[in-house]
Amino acid sequence: MLDLNDKRNNYHRSVLEDAGLPADPLELFAQWYNQAENAGIYDANAMVLSTVLDNAPSSRVVLLKEATYKGFVFFTNYQSAKGLAIAQNPLVALNFYWREAEKQVRIEGRAEKIPEDESDAYFNSRPLQSRISAIVSPQSKSISSRDDLVMAAEKHAKESGNINRPAHWGGYCVVPHMIEFWQGRPDRLHDRIRYSVSADKNWVLGRLAP
Ligand SMILES: Cc1cc2nc3c(=O)[nH]c(=O)nc-3n(C[C@H](O)[C@H](O)[C@H](O)COP(=O)(O)O)c2cc1C
Repeated sequence: MLDLNDKRNNYHRSVLEDAGLPADPLELFAQWYNQAENAGIYDANAMVLSTVLDNAPSSRVVLLKEATYKGFVFFTNYQSAKGLAIAQNPLVALNFYWREAEKQVRIEGRAEKIPEDESDAYFNSRPLQSRISAIVSPQSKSISSRDDLVMAAEKHAKESGNINRPAHWGGYCVVPHMIEFWQGRPDRLHDRIRYSVSADKNWVLGRLAP
């Protein structure tokens, strides 16, 4: 159906040198993220989140809302498919691909629910309609029609004064134990720098073959 054997791009826009690498990968992540934003990348905060349920992996895109020295925060429905997977197995992977910057960042870590007051604060900062959608959408469950969902949202908007965060919706922080930075280079000789948490809980870094 599709033969893509002859499709190939060469990467040449940037380099990832050993000199000047920060001790903490979150600092390099922030630098790269700002470069991606400045390059005008649409949805630069979109990241692929992979979870595992009963040994079966599953991936989907979510939006990064905060990155700190602790980790990477996103918001979702705790009863969604990803939420159930995380409850069973909190080990997850994140992946950013910033095509125009020819960069990839791979993150592996443990997803932890953030404190409820922080989820409240973010929920309350969202537009009203988004809050209502989060309240009425049973994310990942089968529904009979789109109309039913739209009607539920309209009904909630009209009849319920309650626009507080529901208990089943909130944030996770992915606390990383591995972060890899990949910079596309010519002729497939790409740069890869991997940071891992050592036994004494410090970051150690090294270069990987592409
Ligand atoms: C650009 C983009 C951003 C998204 N952001 C989120 C998000 O921040 N949180 C979320 O729960 N779903 C988000 N989604 C939807 C998810 O990809 C997914 O469809 C949904 O969370 C249900 O996934 P699940 O059934 O595996 O739990 C986003 C999708 C796209 C394409």
